[in-house]
Amino acid sequence: MKYMAEKIIFSNKNLLDCIVIPIFEQYKFSKILKKINDISNNYILNILKKNNIQGKINQNIILYHIPNFLCNKFVIIGCGIENKLNREKNKLIINNVINILKKYSIKEIYWYLTDLKINNYTLYWNIRDTIDIIENNIYSFNKFKKHKLSFSSKIKFIINNNNENIYFSAIEHGKAINLGIKKAKNIANLPPNICTPKYLSIKAEKLKKKYKNISIEIIDKKIMKKIGMNAYLSVSKGSKNEPFISIIKYNNNHKLQPIVLLGKGVTFDSGGISLKPSKNMEEMKYDMCGAAAVYGVIYAIAKLKLPLNIIAILASSENMPSSKAYRPSDVIKTMSGLTIEVTNTDAEGRLLLCDILTYIERYNPKYVIDIATLTGACVIALGNNISGLMSNNIILSKQIIKASLEADDRVWELPIDDIKYFNQLKSNIANLINSSNGIAGAITAACFLSKFTKKYKWAHIDIAGTAWYYINQRAMASGRPINMLCQFLINQIFNH
Ligand code: BES
Ligand code: ZN
Ligand code: MG
Repeated sequence: MKYMAEKIIFSNKNLLDCIVIPIFEQYKFSKILKKINDISNNYILNILKKNNIQGKINQNIILYHIPNFLCNKFVIIGCGIENKLNREKNKLIINNVINILKKYSIKEIYWYLTDLKINNYTLYWNIRDTIDIIENNIYSFNKFKKHKLSFSSKIKFIINNNNENIYFSAIEHGKAINLGIKKAKNIANLPPNICTPKYLSIKAEKLKKKYKNISIEIIDKKIMKKIGMNAYLSVSKGSKNEPFISIIKYNNNHKLQPIVLLGKGVTFDSGGISLKPSKNMEEMKYDMCGAAAVYGVIYAIAKLKLPLNIIAILASSENMPSSKAYRPSDVIKTMSGLTIEVTNTDAEGRLLLCDILTYIERYNPKYVIDIATLTGACVIALGNNISGLMSNNIILSKQIIKASLEADDRVWELPIDDIKYFNQLKSNIANLINSSNGIAGAITAACFLSKFTKKYKWAHIDIAGTAWYYINQRAMASGRPINMLCQFLINQIFNH
């Protein structure tokens, strides 16, 4: 889609192709609708009354010939009760408009909906939300389809006051973030026979050519062995596909300590020797959504050229069973020196992350945020719309919560400061076990990670429930929590 903002549109001199205008419940006209209704000598009101279109949220109508008004198609969209609009309802309204655009293949539309008053939020966020909702609506993954369907159109937001700067910055941010989201979805939706750890490393390498502030460092199996990343190496032992860690460094402000984003990138999680049940196992290609999200964030931030210093890491591996695979009861020595007794090869994410959490101490990071489809327990705790947040620093977690509310990409904090959780990780053989049985699984996973994050401020985001969603009962990548993370980073610019 193309997005632009224009000032004067309302005129009866030049012919417009399509215009979309709000109406509120009980025939309450928006200002612009009133104006056009007057020009047309009440033609609009009469038609609305005949068709009983009073302005409820699912009501809308397309008019073709309005007397005295030069416009091919005129979409009147029901917006419910005026002053009772919220973000959820706005989403319904925008999706209704986009479904009309698709149905009638409308290629250009003048958009009179950005100045709807929505409780407690600003014009800037209305525009950002609008772009998010539209891009999510029109996204399709066509790569493997014989017939590639796609839809595109030009959206022209109408500037009402002298606030064009808000339009321009919201459009710029919205476009870049949604480009990052699209890139991430396109990678995450790939099947694991194509999207391997090697594939992800090639994707990372390509960013260096695209953006001048980006440099890349790849850690392959050989280097992992050399520096003692034995926990990381264990996970891929059963797989023909070798593990890769891709470190994407974006530096557009050399004075700052870096913010490190670390994404779990298991391109297929079969569970390994602790094999998963076959039902829905195909969804475990999405176990690399943390890595995809981190890739999407850096893509958007580089596109916006934000004055930040960010290191994005794709922690990639496959988890497969074989005679070479690691087994339950194996003991491994992590890069930090702590030893782990493997009690479940399906708790592989934390084994990948723990060695990288040690590795990144060398960057002297300001903050470290890991993003991982880490536990089924998080899905049980929080469901499919809110990601889990766990942190060792309250300032950092507050900032993440703030960004998540702003971007409407929600997280909820779970506690990791109770000794009882840590007791669940005790081993008789090694320093830690990698999987305790049963209770508070999302939290104990984070407690495990926290053993490796003592040297910096760290937050963990469990996206097991939010990284994908269902269309026609089949999974599709959601691109979450890219929006929240980008907002967190945008906010950082004003924090230093
Ligand atoms: N990738 C899974 C977590 C997962 C499960 C994400 C379902 C999304 C949906 C992770 O590697 C895993 O298998 N975790 C285990 C941990 C357990 C063995 C302690 C789990 O959640 O069952
Ligand atoms: Zn996993
Ligand atoms: Mg697993």
